[in-house]
Amino acid sequence: MSKYKVGVVGIGLVGSEMVKVLRQRNFPASEIRIFATRERTEEINGEKFKIEVAGEGSFKGLDVVLFAGTEGSKGASKLHGWKAVEEGAFVIDNGDDFRMDPRVPLVVPEVNPHHLSKDKKFIANPNCSTIQMVVALAPLHKKFKIRRVVVSTYQSVSGTGRAGLQELYEQAKEVVPNYPDIAKMSQKPVAYPHRIAFNLIPQISGLSDDPAYSGYYKEEIKMIKETRKILDEPEMKVTATCVRVPVFWAHSETVNIEFDSKISAASVRDVLSKAPGIVVLDNPGESVYPMPVEIGGKDEVFVGRIRQDVSNPNAVDLWVVSDNIRKGAALNAVQIAETLIARNLLKS
Ligand SMILES: NC(=O)c1ccc[n+]([C@@H]2O[C@H](COP(=O)([O-])OP(=O)(O)OC[C@H]3O[C@@H](n4cnc5c(N)ncnc54)[C@H](OP(=O)(O)O)[C@@H]3O)[C@@H](O)[C@H]2O)c1
Repeated sequence: MSKYKVGVVGIGLVGSEMVKVLRQRNFPASEIRIFATRERTEEINGEKFKIEVAGEGSFKGLDVVLFAGTEGSKGASKLHGWKAVEEGAFVIDNGDDFRMDPRVPLVVPEVNPHHLSKDKKFIANPNCSTIQMVVALAPLHKKFKIRRVVVSTYQSVSGTGRAGLQELYEQAKEVVPNYPDIAKMSQKPVAYPHRIAFNLIPQISGLSDDPAYSGYYKEEIKMIKETRKILDEPEMKVTATCVRVPVFWAHSETVNIEFDSKISAASVRDVLSKAPGIVVLDNPGESVYPMPVEIGGKDEVFVGRIRQDVSNPNAVDLWVVSDNIRKGAALNAVQIAETLIARNLLKS
């Protein structure tokens, strides 16, 4: 069996989960080299790794490099992503710097593996909230043709990396002893614009300056544009409201889907229960539905509360939960690398 030389750039929540997933799935790696902003040794799942500083020539000889650095002009993908391609590697990038770049396929392996090709060596992983939604939308769109999607998200603080987890933990420790006078808090929010402990924040990332999306925050626009690109439906009607919630792991979503014609909840349940990567957990009478406390650490996209929209015979409502660090980031990236191998695109 061929073995591949793998690089991972960034060793935060997503990067370290990528290394775990590569090992858990026995990815055929002859070596895994890890890069970050400074040299050190790190232990991941009991295995010690030497961390190198990414720079000119770092990626020579590597077959595939998974990027999990921070986004923006000083981020790893902007500084090193295309260089890694020039140095011969396939790149799978987790950030949003290049997702809408026409040169870059945006891939969820269960949905659009056909977007991968040997001459498109820079590949993007979609946004975590988009990934779990399109895994559910794609089989329904294929069978019934979707006309419009209205999604609201309930996104965990792990979506903000280690800083988000730490902020919720520290704030919760301060709020609990002060109950019921919970307004009394000395800690100022850093990772978020407001206190996240025992609160909901209807803002993820900054406000868009695109007049076509007046009033939308950028995370909401990512969900709209990325869904259209992945499903090859540039005109699909999608709207989103993204909310940060005081949950450590896993993102949840309510998704209202309107189809071209009348649809039954039973037929939607049937399609979803046979679709790749989905587990249907839907027994409302017994209070069975997916919840973030149970889904954190799992790989699949979990769907429940499948029901006819009483206001529209052409629409259904779903509740979709998935681990944003696994399927929403690390696992999806590793599955893309596995798909490159399965489609004979990655050469060792
Ligand atoms: N968290 C999620 O749910 C999620 C989901 C989907 C996508 N993503 C995306 O995945 C990426 C990583 O997220 P995260 O939550 O793991 O972030 P994180 O915990 O903040 O970790 C960021 C890592 O990137 C490294 N880094 C930053 N700039 C770099 C550079 N110029 N060169 C090399 N390494 C650099 C940092 O190095 P040091 O350790 O040396 O500081 C750190 O290891 C982000 O783009 C994020 O938007 C996150």
